[in-house]
Amino acid sequence: MTSEAITVLGLGNLGRAVAGTFLVNGYPTTVWNRSAARAAGLAEAGASVASGVGEALSGADLVVVVLLDHLAAQEVLRGVDVRGRALVNLTSGTPEEAREMARWAAENGAEYLHGAVYAVPQTIGTAESSINYSGSSAVHERWRKSLASLGKVTYLGEDAGLASGYDVAILAGMYGLLGGFLHGAALARAGGIEVGELTPRMLSWLTDLQPALVTFAGEIDRGDFAAGESSLAMNQTGLAMLIRATEAQGVPFAALESFKELVDVQVGQGRGGESLARVVESFGVVSQRGARG
Ligand SMILES: NC(=O)c1ccc[n+]([C@@H]2O[C@H](COP(=O)([O-])OP(=O)(O)OC[C@H]3O[C@@H](n4cnc5c(N)ncnc54)[C@H](OP(=O)(O)O)[C@@H]3O)[C@@H](O)[C@H]2O)c1
Repeated sequence: MTSEAITVLGLGNLGRAVAGTFLVNGYPTTVWNRSAARAAGLAEAGASVASGVGEALSGADLVVVVLLDHLAAQEVLRGVDVRGRALVNLTSGTPEEAREMARWAAENGAEYLHGAVYAVPQTIGTAESSINYSGSSAVHERWRKSLASLGKVTYLGEDAGLASGYDVAILAGMYGLLGGFLHGAALARAGGIEVGELTPRMLSWLTDLQPALVTFAGEIDRGDFAAGESSLAMNQTGLAMLIRATEAQGVPFAALESFKELVDVQVGQGRGGESLARVVESFGVVSQRGARG
């Protein structure tokens, strides 16, 4: 019978929120951070503060890693005895980096689960937090209740890279949205419009637009772009107008030109009457679904 002792490695903004949430939920929690000062508040809240990574791992059943990036996680874990430990890594990284960590863990006698966090530090432990996991199903099953204290748990499968595979695709959407919003804010300022006045109107349209993504997803998965209610040709003209407007207002954005180039490829192949979703074909990849077995 294992205990519920948890170690958190990394006490940046997210790591402190993770460790604090385990403490609030009554888990005996040990913490370690490269810069020791960051552990002070957690020590007051009841955490045991380890002076080294080896010490932090010595009594732990579950080790939660929350470091800046893959390189930092490798640096911290290298040379440490992880035998018999369940490692849950919430550090953002590429799918291949997660698989590399999983291989390293297996070679060193540990089980590995990777997590992609959809929360900010302030929402960890609330209903607004959710974390997608992939990797060891045994770790997921054994530690599901403890992990659920951080946020909604979704387990995606045994491939440790899968959570990051979803994550990088979701982040592509997120940064497209954030970049688009900030560019819109710059255009508003250039046009003498308060960003606070723009935002509710932009949000209203973006909200109305959400069902279009579901329609596009269906078209992409079926490979059927015939509908064309939001046609490539219409959007090509719209993008050309937008690029002219941004240049005239002194705030061009290369991302718009790159997007239009992808549209141009499809229109150039005589697909102008088809759906905008066909742009996905301009990236030149075919579905990898099923390729991993
Ligand atoms: N914050 C968020 O809203 C959020 C949301 C989702 C996912 N994430 C992901 O969660 C991870 C942590 O984010 P964060 O916001 O906590 O970042 P952060 O506040 O910048 O903290 C980074 C942590 O990594 C440590 N670190 C960096 N390089 C290191 C090295 N070479 N050796 C040892 N420790 C090292 C830092 O230690 P020092 O204190 O010593 O510098 C610190 O504990 C990132 O991968 C991030 O993408 C964050």
